[in-house]
Amino acid sequence: MEQNFKMVAKTLHGFEDLLEDELKRLGAQDIRKGTRNVSFRGDKGFMYKANLCLRTAIKILKPIQYFKIRNEKDLYDQVYKMHWDKYLTHSDTFAIDATVASEQFTHSQFIALKTKDAIADKFRNTEGKRPNVDLKFPTLRIHVHIQNNDCTISLDSSGGSLHKRGYKTATNIAPINEVLAAGLVMLSGWDGQCDLLDPMCGSGTIAIEAAMIACNIPPNINRTEFGFEKWQDWDVDLFEKIEESCLNKIREFHHNIYGYDKAPSAVQKAKDNVKNANLSDYIQIRRADFFETQKEGDEKLHILFNPPYGERLHIEMEQFYADIGNTLKQGYLNTNAWFITSNLEALKFVGLRPSRKIKVFNGKLESRLVKYEMYAGSKKAKYQDTN
Ligand SMILES: C[S@@+](CC[C@H](N)C(=O)[O-])C[C@H]1O[C@@H](n2cnc3c(N)ncnc32)[C@H](O)[C@@H]1O
Repeated sequence: MEQNFKMVAKTLHGFEDLLEDELKRLGAQDIRKGTRNVSFRGDKGFMYKANLCLRTAIKILKPIQYFKIRNEKDLYDQVYKMHWDKYLTHSDTFAIDATVASEQFTHSQFIALKTKDAIADKFRNTEGKRPNVDLKFPTLRIHVHIQNNDCTISLDSSGGSLHKRGYKTATNIAPINEVLAAGLVMLSGWDGQCDLLDPMCGSGTIAIEAAMIACNIPPNINRTEFGFEKWQDWDVDLFEKIEESCLNKIREFHHNIYGYDKAPSAVQKAKDNVKNANLSDYIQIRRADFFETQKEGDEKLHILFNPPYGERLHIEMEQFYADIGNTLKQGYLNTNAWFITSNLEALKFVGLRPSRKIKVFNGKLESRLVKYEMYAGSKKAKYQDTN
């Protein structure tokens, strides 16, 4: 029987609880929440499953060595001492990612360089030849993490960020990160029990992630490659077994997902991406200006979107966010509407009182995911108007 080992799943700020829940449901052991990461234990099969199935993980690291360092020479010596021939041959390639949270060590690039030198020198001195660096498609991606004087060396089992799901061949100017989109769907509490609309869908990321959640489709099923496929212990039979058992858990979804965008180019890109993800049965994309639409039917609706933020507050942004509020008030009763924005000034012009505000980050932009509840009313709408 394969032994369990520790893994660390990295995530976005504020997504730790979501990731912890996902790991619990997947059957991880010894789950511990950190800052922008959750650690857990499992075996090799679980590592494959975690990479295939976790929606809010950016990458899954397998720590292989811990040590303390006082300076860069300590780092070099400790890395040099490791048995790299267990993971690499001199004809392989490798890449180093470094993250540092330390007053003493501040340059992650330099830390990566020192680590690279130690590995290359070790091979050169013992085998006469060294593996080359390949930053894009290495055989092995190695991760160095320094927290104060504690150093962790890990193997990156994902081999590149897991937001690269494999369905997005077409992107628009400001596509939302897939991990962020999946997390927003989860934070908004949509459970697939009503229709979902992204009225400014761009390349369709939110709609696609929502459909995969509703159908319980593993988010990375279309991904072309994982890091562990190039590891020396790669077990293709085990991977295929895990993949099949995940695919057997796909479920039917009895509602619809809609995406609107006013830009024809975005509509085409969203359609292409939906097709790539094999989700055309569940998602309908059409060209529409949200501000000229209204809800179809009386059934409950869930809206989630990522409107333009605008660089600064200017008159168009004031009007744009006012139009969002007016469209919701006038055309979307019996709707829970959520959107993400970093433009907190523009939010004031929506003219509705949000019932939730959750701090999230879109890349480096501190943002809010806001919720507006538009109640169904017989004569008068019971939304919470701030006017
Ligand atoms: C920030 S992007 C959304 C990105 C999207 N979440 C994705 O993953 O690609 C905002 C989108 O809103 C669209 N848009 C702006 N105003 C609109 C309106 N009034 N009605 C519909 N779409 C609109 C833009 O064309 C753009 O594609």
